[in-house]
Amino acid sequence: MKNIFSAVRVSEHVYWVGAIDWNIRDFHGYTTPRGSTYNAFLILADKITLIDVVKAPYREEMLQRIRSLIDPSRIDYVVSNHSELDHSGALRDVVTLVKPEKVFASAIGAKTLRELGLYPESLEITPVKDGETLSLGNLDLIFLETRMIHWPDSMFSYLKQDELLFSQDAFGMHLATQERFADEIPADILAYEAATYYGNIVLPYSPIVLKALDRVLALGLSIKTIAPDHGPVWRKDLGVILGYYQKWALQKPEPKAVVVYATMWHSTEKMARAIAEAMAQAGLRVKLISMNESHRSEVAYEILEAGALVVGSPTLNNNLLPQMADVMTYLKGLKPANLVGAAFGSYGWSGESVRDLEAILKDMKVEIASETVSCKHVPDETVLEKCHDLGCAVAARLLERLK
Ligand code: FEO
Repeated sequence: MKNIFSAVRVSEHVYWVGAIDWNIRDFHGYTTPRGSTYNAFLILADKITLIDVVKAPYREEMLQRIRSLIDPSRIDYVVSNHSELDHSGALRDVVTLVKPEKVFASAIGAKTLRELGLYPESLEITPVKDGETLSLGNLDLIFLETRMIHWPDSMFSYLKQDELLFSQDAFGMHLATQERFADEIPADILAYEAATYYGNIVLPYSPIVLKALDRVLALGLSIKTIAPDHGPVWRKDLGVILGYYQKWALQKPEPKAVVVYATMWHSTEKMARAIAEAMAQAGLRVKLISMNESHRSEVAYEILEAGALVVGSPTLNNNLLPQMADVMTYLKGLKPANLVGAAFGSYGWSGESVRDLEAILKDMKVEIASETVSCKHVPDETVLEKCHDLGCAVAARLLERLK
């Protein structure tokens, strides 16, 4: 059969042999309107080494890209930097076909690949230690554990002679393109997709990201190329993506507020608009997001550089409206830091939603900057004035924090 898919050279000894998933739109709860790629890389060293594999259905695409360079049976080593299924789903089949001399992973990675059933029981996985160097004959590969960026097993691999960092999920983005390099893609698309990816995947591990960045700096590794497991490879202007990570990991708030709400009969919506207007008048950049129309991933993107989060819900059957329960569960897991906020909402008879929202904000360690505003049925002028006051109070507290 003719080879349809081909490899792309990314550095002197390294080729991209991954797969493009043009159609994926849901990545465990994160919407990916531009699709994604599963990047695998082949190092043509004395010991030919495959770095990560792809999601199971893309096995043949990856093998064809490898075949455009070499017979896959010539692969000596396979390295698994991250055992999540988008990078290891094809591992069992690949190992069975290729019969590599050795497969390497972090100690936790080796255990996780077994637990997930991604590796034949009868074969060994060689665990590697943080800082260990693996000789590929003429080249050296150094392993750096990056636990919890974003799984316990995660590690980077650094190819010394090519000054190339294989960074698994870090510095990646969900972006399906035929272009393989960041410098071939418009900067605004890169900025948006990198931020959305950080906000939806990496954000909870920001303190660990800062430590990892410090560690890479302290090691003095010269890095010419960053090759993540999703999206484009960075071969120019590495400061752009490294700078983004430094900024987002610090979670330094900006004068920006996000108002997130859902509405049944437009009462909570009217309240949200009064709050947003007050915060804009106070000088904040404001983003108003209705969960009736929007996806939770959009909220994760918008709060990345925000300093205030104000949330509103009507009460339905003594509870939050389901759209708000959804987004609050998602946000709580993402652990955004350094926020001020408040809760509001309308109700017909019982009114538990506002109390519940405020409790979630407190649980998220959001500083409550105003009393809640609840409204029975439809907001009148008095209620809307209270909402305006709530917006003023939240804005004042954020601006005070930013001094
Ligand atoms: Fe792209 Fe954590 O897998």
